[in-house]
Parts: sequence; C-alpha cells; structure tokens
Amino acid sequence: MDGVTLIDHPLIKHKLTIMRKKQTPSPHFRSLLREISLLMGYEVTRHLPLENVDIETPITAMSSPKLAGRKMCIFSILRAGEGLAQGLLELIPAARVGHIGLYRDPKNLQAVEYYFKAPPHLDERFCLVVDPMLATGDSAITALNRIKKAGASDIIFLCLLATPEGIKALRTAHPDVKIFTAAIDEKLNEKSYIVPGLGDAGDRIFGTV
Ligand code: URA
Repeated sequence: MDGVTLIDHPLIKHKLTIMRKKQTPSPHFRSLLREISLLMGYEVTRHLPLENVDIETPITAMSSPKLAGRKMCIFSILRAGEGLAQGLLELIPAARVGHIGLYRDPKNLQAVEYYFKAPPHLDERFCLVVDPMLATGDSAITALNRIKKAGASDIIFLCLLATPEGIKALRTAHPDVKIFTAAIDEKLNEKSYIVPGLGDAGDRIFGTV
C-alpha cells in the first residue's frame, strides 16, 4: 500500500500476539507496548539525517556521525497515544512532546477536541503523531488537521494496529503523511472496534476495563 510501512519484525509480531490476548493484564500490556514502541521507533527514525562531528575516543581523534540537530516532536493522541509516546521519548529524549485530546460526540460520532498543547516552532520539527489504534481514521484525521493548523508539515503517523478503512481514510485526507504500523487487521465491527484487534487500547493500558 502506497505510503504505508508495515513493520512486521518477528519480535514485534510475538509481543503483539501477547497484547491481543484478552487475559494479558494491564502491567504486562503496558510494558509490551513500550517495548514495541522502541522497536518501531528504530524503524520510523531511519530517515533522520546525520552529520559528522569531531570527537576524541580514549584512543584517538575521529569524525563520527550524530543526529543533525533536527528538532523533533512526538505528538500523543490522548489517551492511548501515551502508551507509545513514553517509550519513544526514552529513545529520543531530546524530542518535545505535544498532546491532543479528542472525544467522540455521542450524537454525531464526530471527534471533538478537548485539549491541545504543542511545543513551539512546530513548522521546524519532524512530528511523529502516535495512537496505537487506527480504526475509522476519524481521530487521526482530526488530530492531523489540528497539528497542521498549528504549523507542522513534516509528519509521520505511527500506530500499532490499522484497518484498511482507516488507512484509506487517512491517506485520502492527508496523502503527505506516511503511516507506520505493526499490523493491518481485517476490519471494523459495528461499534468501530478493530477486528480481531485487542479491544480498547486505552482501557487495556490504564486498567480501566
Ligand atoms: N480504539 C481502540 O482502542 N480499539 C479499537 O478497536 C478501535 C479504536
């Protein structure tokens, strides 16, 4: 699929299988999500530019690569996004973190913003927008509309599970935003849950089932 990278490493697949199991308790679910975020973070940052700097090892002087001072922002779509954002922040401690909170209006099922906080100079940052579940795509599209309105233009969307419907909707609304996911599931059910999925990611992360 154009613009979609499936990160299907055996370690990720194995950990995801344990996360999907309904018996897996919240503390284990959370730590697996953190571990997967580190593995996915490795792949999603592969394109970051490097520059050589002169350093001295205990043995000799050398020119060695470091990240080219690129400003970065991890954008967490509340609340499940936190499960991915914390691991990514460990991997890239210099990144700034933005948050967007959305709830679904029970009448028209539209995503409504209740919170937005972004670091300055979003226009200069590579933004990694994270939410474990790309289901209908509504929240991701609303979040990306808002994040772009705040200035961001260089954006990747990172999720754990996606549906074909969600990918299509997101790629149609934001063709410039590439999607990285660990799995593409079969479909959505009538309540917009991902099938086979893993249930409500927020509930499983925070133990609010
Ligand atoms: N959000 C979730 O947490 N789970 C789904 O299956 C769909 C959306």
